[in-house]
Amino acid sequence: MDKILVLDFGGQYDQLIARRVREQHVYAEIRYYDRITVQEIGKEGYLGIIFTGGPNSVYDPAAPHYDPQILELGIPVLGICYGAQLMAYMAGGTVESAENGSEYGKTLLEVLDDRMFPVVPKKSICWMSHTDYISALPEGFRVTAVTGKCPCAAMCNDEKKLYAVQFHPEVTHTEYGRQILRDFLFSVCGCAGDWDTAGYVERMIRKYRAELSGKKVLLALSGGVDSSVAALLLHKAIGQDLVCVFVDHGLLRKGEADLVEQTFRETFGVNLIRVNAAERFLSRLVGVSAPERKRKIIGEEFIRVFEEEAAKIGHVHALAQGTIYPDVIESGKGASAVIKSHHNVGGLPDVISFDEIIEPLRDLFKDEVRAAGTALGLPQELVRRQPFPGPGLAVRIIGEVTKEKIAMLQEADAIFREEIGKGQTKNAPDQYFAVLTDTRTVGVMGDARTYGYTAALRAVTTDDFMTAEWTRLPYEVLERASSRITNEVPGISRVVYDISSKPPATVEWE
Ligand code: XMP
Repeated sequence: MDKILVLDFGGQYDQLIARRVREQHVYAEIRYYDRITVQEIGKEGYLGIIFTGGPNSVYDPAAPHYDPQILELGIPVLGICYGAQLMAYMAGGTVESAENGSEYGKTLLEVLDDRMFPVVPKKSICWMSHTDYISALPEGFRVTAVTGKCPCAAMCNDEKKLYAVQFHPEVTHTEYGRQILRDFLFSVCGCAGDWDTAGYVERMIRKYRAELSGKKVLLALSGGVDSSVAALLLHKAIGQDLVCVFVDHGLLRKGEADLVEQTFRETFGVNLIRVNAAERFLSRLVGVSAPERKRKIIGEEFIRVFEEEAAKIGHVHALAQGTIYPDVIESGKGASAVIKSHHNVGGLPDVISFDEIIEPLRDLFKDEVRAAGTALGLPQELVRRQPFPGPGLAVRIIGEVTKEKIAMLQEADAIFREEIGKGQTKNAPDQYFAVLTDTRTVGVMGDARTYGYTAALRAVTTDDFMTAEWTRLPYEVLERASSRITNEVPGISRVVYDISSKPPATVEWE
């Protein structure tokens, strides 16, 4: 399989670069620069290497550097932004910093050389974000593009197949970015472009069938996209040897637990154990209102239930997990990486002994996981499922969690989702849900005074959930949701819409 290495120097677009390469049906893998040696790179069989951008200046003592031998491996290299400057520096050129030479945003690019840019017109728009620039070229290189402020917006050494661009071809604002990447992948590196998610899924199924047949594999199925796709893939590979444990903590959305059971057990014939543990979770949550305490209790209880079920199964060979590529990249960056530990319910159980951990999706990005789910026949309802926190509705009920409040919230949330579902899919929010606040207010219904709860509706638009905008939902959707919730859900007499963005607010209320 053709492979491209994305050598990560700490840039913010490393994942985007890999995504863009994979969009061209070429497999790309990201490795952090200090986690792979030049010797290892030489042996991996990469057809090309891309140096990513990075936040530093090449002359900073702390700036990421790399063994210049990488330029002598005979593997084509494309340097982007910091990666371009690093290439120049490693090959003997000079990089300078000039405040008045900095460029940010859309910039007019003038191509001087159509050998490096055969499909880019003389003038086009590129996306720049730099202060440093290449001021003197290394020997054997020539300038192939300029901008108003940047005397070397691109350079190359054809003989050694070394290419560098100061701008960001991976960002959509660069008009011909995609073509530039395509040209590097196909004309320079000679990639075949035959990688795709469906083929990947097939290969993984064959691999696991060969390696795991006859061995028991255990998987905690949550109904989320990642664990669902991992379950289905392994089920196709080893059938009944895969045992999925689905812990229903009673804090899922309306109808969801049944949907998961129906889909996996009835539609796909997966060996599924559903544990109805709602009472157990609820009894541990009595009197608890602090959000972090709720999370901790649910995480611990989840592990306990899972361990008890596993003990009943007997010896398991492997534990399977729905880890996906962004999780792998994050942990590969070492101690400084931000790992969202609170986002994984509980972590790994430690009393189940197993010989191996299996992560069938560890090479895939989220949208590729969804594509894999579609290829495996997972219903779109589950493939397109919006993120849902592991602790479930417990963190959407402000204050103490009770059975009555869960029921109220499930109804309100289902109505809101239904009303949004009726609307246009264009500009649909990336996550939307209802929250049951602990504020009660006075209302009137018929001739009687009411004193009911206030539900809050939340809908956000986001790429990565690290930052998010509140979604400008049409008033009609809000109007219908509000009037249906107050009419159809006893106990809720007021509805408000959350217009806070993240930051400073978070997506969830707790
Ligand atoms: P916040 O509230 O941190 O949410 O802005 C960002 C994204 O993470 C989800 N989230 C969680 N997911 N366990 C999870 O599995 C959690 O404890 C948790 N808290 C927040 C949230 O739904 C949003 O998609």
